[in-house]
Amino acid sequence: MTYSILILGGTAEAKALAAQLATSPDYQILLSLAGRTKAPAEQPVPVRIGGFGGPEGLADFMRDNGIDLLIDATHPFAARISRNAAEAAVAAGIDIMALRRPAWSRQKGDRWQDVADIPAAVQALDIAPRRVFLTLGRQELLPFEVMKQHRYLVRSVDPVEPPLQLPHVTYITARGPFSEWDEIQLLEKHGIDLIVSKNSGGAASAAKIAAARRLGIKVVLIERPRLPDVPSARSVEELAGMARHWKLSRRKRGE
Ligand SMILES: NC(=O)c1ccc[n+]([C@@H]2O[C@H](COP(=O)([O-])OP(=O)(O)OC[C@H]3O[C@@H](n4cnc5c(N)ncnc54)[C@H](OP(=O)(O)O)[C@@H]3O)[C@@H](O)[C@H]2O)c1
Repeated sequence: MTYSILILGGTAEAKALAAQLATSPDYQILLSLAGRTKAPAEQPVPVRIGGFGGPEGLADFMRDNGIDLLIDATHPFAARISRNAAEAAVAAGIDIMALRRPAWSRQKGDRWQDVADIPAAVQALDIAPRRVFLTLGRQELLPFEVMKQHRYLVRSVDPVEPPLQLPHVTYITARGPFSEWDEIQLLEKHGIDLIVSKNSGGAASAAKIAAARRLGIKVVLIERPRLPDVPSARSVEELAGMARHWKLSRRKRGE
């Protein structure tokens, strides 16, 4: 018996999870990406790209494609798709589990200012001119256009187009993960004295936080949105274990 699994991805963990589950002949995996990046990272399993059209569209997609298990492995700040996933799973009567990586927690030497959301992060910059490293997505960058007194460094996977309406911005395009050493070099090269980041958690983007700690740089850290309460795991390995248990209990029930 083969089980069809739809993984909602767009993260390094989703890719690693897909690779791990694909080693079992019991699963047929389809990975879904939103299609935000122009040249998405190569994936170890078949991929579909683009939105489903809300929770109803996702429920229909799963019914039409005989999906047995939905795994939400999206980014912790991708709250809408996580809510859609929880709702669609109930509507279609399909089991769901989620990969919810822990948030970063404060360590000795961290100079964090926790803020609730992007507007609060913008307000936190209402100060004398500084050199600010913005590690955010394009839509999240736009609200910073009101704070014109700062010099910004913006790093993104694809170029920021059109450019921001700001007088002093340096753009770099790069895809993580980055090492702590790389991040220290970058922060020093650009004389950064403030970082704005989401509290994404996980290893892939933690190096900038470690580098800030090392250099004593302040971080304005945006707290996570609330996510729906579904069965979840904190790591790829833990989620692969949950999927294995799920498979065995389905087998036991003869499903
Ligand atoms: N937000 C971040 O900081 C961040 C960082 C790194 C990676 N990502 C990844 O980038 C993607 C988009 O993030 P977002 O914050 O824009 O999401 P979002 O606000 O939660 O979702 C907006 C819409 O995009 C579509 N969508 C999102 N993820 C999808 C997926 N994996 N497959 C198919 N459709 C998807 C859905 O459209 P429909 O309603 O039409 O289905 C959803 O309603 C996600 O896959 C996420 O994992 C996000």
